[in-house]
Amino acid sequence: MFSEDVISRVRDSVDIVDIVSGYVSLKKTGKNYVGLCPFHAEKTPSFTVNTDKQIFHCFGCGVGGDVFRFLESQEGLNFPEALRQLAGKAGITLPESRPRVGEKKSDDERKALLAVITEAADFFRKELEGPTGSAARAYLKKRGLSDSVVKDFSLGWAKSEWDALLRHLKQKGHPAGLMEKAGLIVKRSEGEGHYDRFRGRIIFPIRDLSGNVIAFGGRVMDDSLPKYLNSPETPLYSKSNVLYCLDRAKEQGRKLGYFIIVEGYLDAIACHQFGVQNAVATLGTALTEGHLRQMRRFAQKLVLIFDPDPAGVKAALRGLDLFIAAGMKVNVVSLPDGDDPDTFLQKHGHDAFAARLRESLKFMDFVLSQVVRGGATASIDEKVEMASEMLGVIARIPSGIERDYYLKKTAEALDVNETLLRQEMTKQAKPRQAGSAPVSRPRQQRPRAEEILIHLMLRDENMARSIRGDIAPEEFTDPLYQRAAKKIFSLLDAGGRLDVKALLNDDDEELSGLITHYSALDIDYSDPQKHCNDCVSVIKQQNYEKKIKTLTRAINEAAARGDWAEHRKLLEEQNRLYQRPGRRIPGL
Ligand code: UTP
Ligand code: MN
Repeated sequence: MFSEDVISRVRDSVDIVDIVSGYVSLKKTGKNYVGLCPFHAEKTPSFTVNTDKQIFHCFGCGVGGDVFRFLESQEGLNFPEALRQLAGKAGITLPESRPRVGEKKSDDERKALLAVITEAADFFRKELEGPTGSAARAYLKKRGLSDSVVKDFSLGWAKSEWDALLRHLKQKGHPAGLMEKAGLIVKRSEGEGHYDRFRGRIIFPIRDLSGNVIAFGGRVMDDSLPKYLNSPETPLYSKSNVLYCLDRAKEQGRKLGYFIIVEGYLDAIACHQFGVQNAVATLGTALTEGHLRQMRRFAQKLVLIFDPDPAGVKAALRGLDLFIAAGMKVNVVSLPDGDDPDTFLQKHGHDAFAARLRESLKFMDFVLSQVVRGGATASIDEKVEMASEMLGVIARIPSGIERDYYLKKTAEALDVNETLLRQEMTKQAKPRQAGSAPVSRPRQQRPRAEEILIHLMLRDENMARSIRGDIAPEEFTDPLYQRAAKKIFSLLDAGGRLDVKALLNDDDEELSGLITHYSALDIDYSDPQKHCNDCVSVIKQQNYEKKIKTLTRAINEAAARGDWAEHRKLLEEQNRLYQRPGRRIPGL
């Protein structure tokens, strides 16, 4: 949308230290400034700002980037918004955005879709206020919603006609195709034309982070089905990336350091009405990685509300890997049987709810308490079953210390011998199922040699050039480090300076995190050139050994098949490999 030129002009005219200082109290240490990370809760500072490179990075939670990224995460802005804000600060007038090919069109379409949805929201809202909305107003009152909340959430009413909205929007000049694309009307299956999607329903507008209405949910007022009808996926709305009320909960979530996740529109609204302002709701789906990513920009902790029954535990467990991968701390609150946050708050009020929050259990403690309920006095068969279920869960925890802790607690709760349980755990341990691994699994084992090479390249462009001649990106064995090497090498090949900002990539957060991590990492090597040579050797040696292993396997397979021609060919290849000048593994 904006030219690289104006983007760098804005970036260069502000100092990231000034901007960050507005949010974080920074202290100078050496080349860097450090402070307590605003993106996760910590007691010792691991959040670093590097003035030379004008980047930030937190060694605790891994976020990092340039000044735009900082504002985006901190203020919940998108890139153009962050750019505009900084340009304003720097006194730079932005030219009318210069669209790239294809971008102009989608930007125009987005604007048109937003306009038609906003118009629809207005229409529904006025209908609720008007004479046709009286039954709906009565329903909302009966459900305990105050007038100001109804207004504040811009609730609406879609009357029971086939084309009330369609006619209204047409009259305002919106084409039917656009209304359909926005999910407001549906094509008739027979014959020509469209009809309104929402009819005879209370309307809940769904907003994006900036507060634009992007979709709707609609509830019937009786027992007919479906109880709720929601907008379909549209260019503006994807339910696995949007949380109801996040726009109004984000500030409080940041302040308190956590979000409360509920399941329904009315649950979220009740929370806000009763002063629990950090509540958000999923929209008829399970929590996704996309949801967590949205919230992680503001807080690192979540409180979930689950029924304390086997189904509730199952639902909780489905999220476990997701939470681990996102590095979010999760607590669980249970409410009395049959209550959801809405009914609980209406019956018992804010203080009782707050008390429940205070009694929330750590995720794993909740799971443990439910799985081994009555465990100490259970029959031996039941104990075996409970132990086995808990071991399966414990095995998914990456931290050894925590695994240990929960093994001990499980043994206590079941009143069984801890050592036996431990042996059982080793027996049960199976490799993770392929494909179930979360996308950004915490890296337990960094490939050291590859890690050091990336660091060396980022701190010294000349060394990067020499490394470029010594090793190919494909030789990096870890996919992430391979991506980093590719990115660095292609920038060098294109004649570019090895500038962190040029290496950051919005589409690959993991890679950007790695780049800022090693760019901000301030350690010195006694003899960088020697380190560099050693690392290259180690990587080559590892590749060599891998190749030999693959070849040996193929040779054995060829022999087993009796494919002697292939066998000889592979043997020759192996011989050639063996004759290569031997490489010693230097100690790193
Ligand atoms: P619930 O059935 O628990 O309803 O659905 P609720 O939110 O408590 O609503 P009330 O109190 O009965 O009025 C929880 C959420 O699941 C989604 C909606 O987002 C709803 O708020 N849902 C439910 C649907 O999308 N469609 C449905 O038919 C039902
Ligand atoms: Mn409810």
